[in-house]
Amino acid sequence: MSSSSSEDCFTIVDVPENRYDEAIHHLRWNFFADEPLNNAIGLCARGESQRALERHCLLTLKQGYSRMLMDKKGAIAGMALNGILKKGEREEEERRFDELDDEKFKMIMKLLYKVNDKVDLFAKYDVDELFECRILSVDANYRGKGLASVLMDDSEKVAKNAGFKVCKADATSAFSLKVYLKHGYQVEAEISYTELDKSIRPAPPHQALKLMVKLLD
Ligand code: ACO
Repeated sequence: MSSSSSEDCFTIVDVPENRYDEAIHHLRWNFFADEPLNNAIGLCARGESQRALERHCLLTLKQGYSRMLMDKKGAIAGMALNGILKKGEREEEERRFDELDDEKFKMIMKLLYKVNDKVDLFAKYDVDELFECRILSVDANYRGKGLASVLMDDSEKVAKNAGFKVCKADATSAFSLKVYLKHGYQVEAEISYTELDKSIRPAPPHQALKLMVKLLD
């Protein structure tokens, strides 16, 4: 972990199964309602449960690559929910989402699929698996202090240690975009928010949904 003094009070740890409830609690209060697309479409209120998104988060947590940043009181200050995306798996996932009756959640997932369909990363980088940073979330009280950057550094180490060659993320926020660019991610494809119906269009400063990639050495 970084040695900067503002970060000295934090530690980064894995997310064991007995802390999934705590993790979901953090996400309900800091990610579900705040992420720009969720916020624009009114997916849920802050603190509220969102069944489809929680299922998506839990499936990712169970893959075992997620990390959480703890403050000195032992509360979650931020999280990186990382998952593995295997070649051909997306299509199956898309069919599963099609069966859901949660229209707002489906609209968001369709948009994510649309930007991902613009480039076949498996073919382009000749890999069968991608390390995916699915959710980056920092407690509202700790934002703007570089904690997302600390989580990204750490996640990259997790990916490298597990032998992955390609990291990807779907940056929906102007702030997460800055974090990814700072860590050497490049834009592979994008959908400008001006193209979206106003019922799902995030307000400035958020400008586009960007498919970001970083090659690990
Ligand atoms: N207003 C203006 N600039 C901001 C703000 C703000 N509210 N918040 C962060 N920034 C800027 C920072 O100044 C910094 O810019 P710089 O590099 O030019 O100095 C940059 O954004 C990143 O700041 P960090 O402090 O590293 O990021 P932070 O720890 O605040 O976390 C995050 C960023 C995770 C996006 C946080 O705002 C958050 O949890 N938002 C809600 C959930 C969300 O939108 N997650 C990302 C969605 S995309 C995905 O998950 C794959």
